[in-house]
Amino acid sequence: MSTKIEVEDMITVGNLAEKLMLPATKLITELMKNGVMATVNERIDYDTAQIIVGELDLDIELVKKEEQATPVRQKRAASDKAVTRPPVVAVMGHVDHGKTSLLDAIRGAQVVKGEAGGITQHISAYQILHGKRAITFLDTPGHEAFAALREHGAQLTDLVILVVAADDGIKPQTLEAIRFARKAGVKLIVAINKMDKEGADPNRIKQQLSEQSLLVEEWGGDTVIVEVSAKNKTGIDKLLDMVLLVADVEDLKADVDVPASGLIIEAHMEQGRGPVAIALVEAGRLHPGDYVTAGSSYARIRNLEATDGKPLKEAGPSTPVIITGFKSLPAFADEFLAVKDEKEARQVSQSAATERKSGSGHLDINSSELIRIINRSNQVDELNVVVKADVQGSLTSVIDSLKALDTEEVAVRIVGSGVGNINDSDVHLAHTSNAILYGFNVTIPSGIKQIANRDRVSVRIYSVIYELIDDAKEEMSKLLAPEVKETELGTLLVKGIFKSTKTDVICGGEVTKGKMVFPALARVVRDKEELAEVEITNLKRGPQDAKEVFEGEMCGLSFKSTARVDLQEGDRIQAFTRETVTRSL
Ligand code: GTP
Ligand code: MG
Repeated sequence: MSTKIEVEDMITVGNLAEKLMLPATKLITELMKNGVMATVNERIDYDTAQIIVGELDLDIELVKKEEQATPVRQKRAASDKAVTRPPVVAVMGHVDHGKTSLLDAIRGAQVVKGEAGGITQHISAYQILHGKRAITFLDTPGHEAFAALREHGAQLTDLVILVVAADDGIKPQTLEAIRFARKAGVKLIVAINKMDKEGADPNRIKQQLSEQSLLVEEWGGDTVIVEVSAKNKTGIDKLLDMVLLVADVEDLKADVDVPASGLIIEAHMEQGRGPVAIALVEAGRLHPGDYVTAGSSYARIRNLEATDGKPLKEAGPSTPVIITGFKSLPAFADEFLAVKDEKEARQVSQSAATERKSGSGHLDINSSELIRIINRSNQVDELNVVVKADVQGSLTSVIDSLKALDTEEVAVRIVGSGVGNINDSDVHLAHTSNAILYGFNVTIPSGIKQIANRDRVSVRIYSVIYELIDDAKEEMSKLLAPEVKETELGTLLVKGIFKSTKTDVICGGEVTKGKMVFPALARVVRDKEELAEVEITNLKRGPQDAKEVFEGEMCGLSFKSTARVDLQEGDRIQAFTRETVTRSL
């Protein structure tokens, strides 16, 4: 009988090794074999642990520990008492295609002008009324962030508005957004933006969309496409009508007679207010004075506000809210849950804290990531990178831009990322995962540099994002399988066979096209059917050895093949060369 071992839902590699009575290195090696680069302090989830234990062939059965005191997050599946809730809409699209401008046009505010450098630095969320109905919007700067939200089991987004600039067309991040929406099973509405611009060509965009199987209704498909101009505020009403129409079809509901729950989508410190979190309520109703836990932090809600700062007495499903009163900063993508009193809040947050006390600030690894890696490792080459940046905003931008480099053949895998100067654990991670360590607007202390040199970790620091991206692109190009290029040289019509063994043939014939060359490769062809690929081992013009014999000339030709070729008169030998050409992205 196998031994049963209880493990928590998330467990550090070190703890798991302890429980299995194995050296941690053994576990790390096994994880690496499966494409997961994890350090001792990193947490893996239960399913990953199970896969690894299975691979190790131990006579051990992992059992998931029942969580006792921890209230379980409400399932999104709504009961029959559930009520209709507003749709949660994410706006996605390529850089500068006008996501923020469109959101502003919808809200009638002017956020873009206030943004540093015009690049969205964080997720903002807000709710608007269209007619009498509410719609919640998320401005997602990073697809990474969107993925993180999605990963947390929260099908947070009901609908994606894909913004495509009418004068620019489909770009890498547009494609990525399409892929995301598909993977998440989220409905997609296309907003062709910048219709006011000269050179706006909506038909070209529709054409490009149809190549992605997004067929506009007028062309017989069911993709909703709306032409808008965020600048001139045209088409906005129609877009919102469409959002509500699609939402109605989806029949979105949530329970309200349950403890409030949802997700933290942003958190920062504010002078005079302390930790401030922006959260999206998914179910239940939040009130000022309620106790909520989020990750290892908790709050008695001091201020509950709409995202425009207006105080709220209550916030129901699909409402983005600002919450103050947290004891410490909750993390992005933490789930929050209302609990009954301070005692429970403290308990829950403390157990989360102990579970989480892993020192490294790196991403947790879960089973879907593992499966993704396993599935992918066969087909796609990956460039492993660790990214450090000065602030969260630039980190998101760098990660985003790196992700946009992904192609069908080669992808960037971010094995770790964080804000701040390069430290020894970054170097360690880059070392164990064979990754390039990119720094953006950060420095590397000389002691750390020495460690990096010793471990041969390549550390590359940039202050211009495009240079960093170009460098990564070049590295990815190196991973691309070289292109094989074949050049036809000529054809010989076989007129006689002089010698034929299992692997060697000597024949004679006339060059009917181009030239015969030695050395070269050749295909033996009979009536258009290729019989074999062979290697020309000798050429003779008369009794003399020759390097080349031209069209119209007769020659003797020897070739070698790996399998027997029963050459016949009338067969053709087509000579060619094959070379590999390195490609670039
Ligand atoms: P990131 O957050 O950096 O990815 O960009 P974004 O997609 O949010 O784009 P943003 O709203 O910052 O707009 C990019 C640029 O396009 C700005 O200079 C806008 O003024 C301009 N722009 C956006 N919408 C329109 C439009 O409808 N017409 C015209 N003419 N310009 C627009
Ligand atoms: Mg923006």
